[in-house]
Amino acid sequence: MGIEGIPFVDGESCLLFDHRGKQHLIRLSQGSEFHFDRGVIPHDSIIGSPEGGTVTSSGGTDVVVLRPRLADYVLKMKRGAAVMYPKDTGAVVTWADIRPGSLVLEAGTGSGAMTLALSRAVGEQGRVVTVDTREDHQTHAKRLVEQFAGTIPPNIEFLTGDVVDHVADVGPDRVVLDLPEPWHCVEVLPGAMRPGGALAAYLPTVPQVEQLRRTMNDTHAFLAEDTFEVMMRSWKIAGRSVRPDHRMVGHTGFITVARLRSMPGADG
Ligand SMILES: C[S@@+](CC[C@H](N)C(=O)[O-])C[C@H]1O[C@@H](n2cnc3c(N)ncnc32)[C@H](O)[C@@H]1O
Repeated sequence: MGIEGIPFVDGESCLLFDHRGKQHLIRLSQGSEFHFDRGVIPHDSIIGSPEGGTVTSSGGTDVVVLRPRLADYVLKMKRGAAVMYPKDTGAVVTWADIRPGSLVLEAGTGSGAMTLALSRAVGEQGRVVTVDTREDHQTHAKRLVEQFAGTIPPNIEFLTGDVVDHVADVGPDRVVLDLPEPWHCVEVLPGAMRPGGALAAYLPTVPQVEQLRRTMNDTHAFLAEDTFEVMMRSWKIAGRSVRPDHRMVGHTGFITVARLRSMPGADG
């Protein structure tokens, strides 16, 4: 027999793959039941069973149980504020060069999708300070983060307020902004963010990008500026039918990245 999957425990998130490949995200809770068109699956039949195994519904349908990937969870979780899509979080982590040990200032927290990606990327030695003006968004995000990670990872600090008021206290080396008017924060980064650090801002419309880039130019403190979109087109591969899917996510947001230099005159 091969290596066994790690058994599920009470309180974990679990993704059920039914016979049609349809996926259902549930949070395991002793004594609860999952109902779908092929019957009922008691959560107790999953708790203690190994990941990758099969459970059978009351209607006789086999369902495979897996822990969700972060991308699965983000697309299926009950979000409050709009989330940053996995295709975009991956690009932000790469192009803002977020790595183990980074000190990241993030705003807004929203539903916490990006926060989870950042927490993983910075690791145990790093820190993510995530700020949102709305306390209700933060409360919801904390719940979603805890549901995915099992607990709030100790490298995340949640703050309520305007991000502009927290740049100087945090002194980040990485800044990730997903909020409607990032230019207010960008204006205060020179002198407060570590030179050599990287910024990423995510914006849905062209006028917002124009205003952001104008503000960045006016500070004379940024270089290596780049604005791009990430297009992801998945394909159907079924027998001889090999072609792009009919549908795709057309537009989410533009990503703008840049590096911060020392303030002109600050090097003596
Ligand atoms: C689109 S959501 C962020 C989604 C998040 N990136 C995610 O992946 O779940 C935008 C958030 O920014 C917050 N926000 C707007 N202006 C802000 C500011 N000046 N400072 C901090 N948060 C702000 C809003 O309350 C909202 O929750």
